[in-house]
Amino acid sequence: MTTDLGPESLTAAVIGSFKKTPDQRLKAVLESLTHHLHEFVRDVAPSIQEWEAAIDFLTATGQKCDDVRQEFILLSDVLGVSMLVETINDEETPDATDSTVLGPFHMVQSPERVLGENISAESEGDVCVVRGRITSVTGEPVPGARIDVWQANTKGFYDVQQPGIQTIGNGRGLFTADEHGEFYFRSVIPSYYPIPTDGPVGDLLHATVRHPYRPAHIHFIVAATDYKTLTTHIFVGGSEYIDSDAVFAVKESLIKPFSTNADPEAAAALGVAAPFVEGVIEIVLHPEAPPHEDTNETVKEVVR
Ligand code: BEZ
Ligand code: FE
Repeated sequence: MTTDLGPESLTAAVIGSFKKTPDQRLKAVLESLTHHLHEFVRDVAPSIQEWEAAIDFLTATGQKCDDVRQEFILLSDVLGVSMLVETINDEETPDATDSTVLGPFHMVQSPERVLGENISAESEGDVCVVRGRITSVTGEPVPGARIDVWQANTKGFYDVQQPGIQTIGNGRGLFTADEHGEFYFRSVIPSYYPIPTDGPVGDLLHATVRHPYRPAHIHFIVAATDYKTLTTHIFVGGSEYIDSDAVFAVKESLIKPFSTNADPEAAAALGVAAPFVEGVIEIVLHPEAPPHEDTNETVKEVVR
């Protein structure tokens, strides 16, 4: 192959270089990547200095990553890519609860907790109860579903962001739904908070005059045998930034009022004093898709 190709034939040559790729999905991904990446470069026509700055930015993004910091996920989040992937995958399960971004802070195992336990025992703040029910798309309860939850404290920090200040596991819990598919736990009412801005993604937000805030929310991963695992949030209705989430992850269906419940019987059943603040989320799971020719593992191998 000669090296004096023009821009168009260069693109064709790179795409052609993948023609023997045995894995058809991988081949399609690489061809599309090359096509769109080259289009982008033609469109932007970067100077050599700009290309070097882009490489430096991506290098710094990688260097910012460690066991408890995932700057690439953060970059994907602020560019709306994470939410685009979620939304595309959600289209396959229109009857299930909407999904939303995983975010970069699900990086430690949540402590196993019993129903009703306080996930934020170390955190100051207004107490709330979060409860819900897991059902299938046909309305049957899903007993034994596993509900992994995590949230920031009221100062806006996850446990992993404050080593020595918060114990790992504060703000987290792994629950098992009861025989009716129901679950509940205590916590503090979350507040809005900024995503980390002390890295390249923060520089990007700064350069583009964008704020870093996420509206108040609690994360959920709900898993059950024979169902598609759901990654989602419950957003606190009326929270600041609900209309301008820095990572574009708010879906109307996931916004729930955190309202006062004065019913003494409800309070007694949940083991709290009345009146109490509660957030309620009904979670509908979609049956697991039948296994299909999965080439994702190959893609992951190559990307690794
Ligand atoms: C989070 O909610 O934990 C989060 C999501 C995206 C970027 C940063 C934080
Ligand atoms: Fe969060």
